[in-house]
Amino acid sequence: MYRPAGRSWSSMAKQSKLTIRDIRKKKADGEKQVWLTAYDFFTAKNLDAVGVDGLLVGDSLNMVVYGRPSTLSLTLEQSLYHTEAVVRGAKHAVVIGDMPFLTYQQSISEAVANAGKYLKEAGAQGVKLEGGMEMAATIKRLVEVGIPVMGHIGLTPQSIHKFGGYRVQGKEDVSKKYLLESASAVEEAGCFAVVLEAIKPDLASEITAHLSIPTIGIGAGPSVDGQIMVINDIIGLDEEFKAKFVRRYFNLAAKIREVGEGFISDVRSGDYPSKDETY
Ligand code: KIV
Repeated sequence: MYRPAGRSWSSMAKQSKLTIRDIRKKKADGEKQVWLTAYDFFTAKNLDAVGVDGLLVGDSLNMVVYGRPSTLSLTLEQSLYHTEAVVRGAKHAVVIGDMPFLTYQQSISEAVANAGKYLKEAGAQGVKLEGGMEMAATIKRLVEVGIPVMGHIGLTPQSIHKFGGYRVQGKEDVSKKYLLESASAVEEAGCFAVVLEAIKPDLASEITAHLSIPTIGIGAGPSVDGQIMVINDIIGLDEEFKAKFVRRYFNLAAKIREVGEGFISDVRSGDYPSKDETY
């Protein structure tokens, strides 16, 4: 009988790391799932400790960590580097790496080679890629070779120039039809879940009812199987960023300034370091 080296069956039974299978099952169990993005070890560790189901190392990394204007210039190496850190911080949550622009679109074999690095080098449990029915053959092949795939349809930021801006998708009949057919296509291709970004709530609801895999919404209203948010948005690290669907829980930007001002004042006044803070 197969037995992983160095681990007993009892310790395996106690482990609580969620699997892709658990994520799929939550839909059948009617359990709402909670996803957040994370890009570093300690954020992952803290979000994991409070019980998020999934951590996505989103390509939003390029914007919210590196301060670039879009996701387009993120490299595979940067994404893998951050994914590996998040994986080490997550004892419970599923960790998914988000494949950057042009690391999976050019050929299926390149997509397999690059997606495989998320599992082999970074230790992620799967990858996310953007696109609907046109990505079905790629998704199918990734799943065939053992790489779980999370789909992403609606507002797919890697196509920002095609859309001409960050706009709500699926408003016209033709794009509504495309999104409905794409949702089915990515499910049939083998996705374990699909992100629905910036689409009208009635369309998200229709897709959710139609699919057997979980739908994870961002700006897609309440009738989805789970929600995902960009962590930096909900902690308020960028005060200038505003979006209707974002609920801001904290103003970290103001706190950072407050801490910076406090330290500046203490150093300049000679208050820091005190005797207790000196070796
Ligand atoms: O890159 C990202 O953070 C994402 C989520 C918004 C779904 O794709």
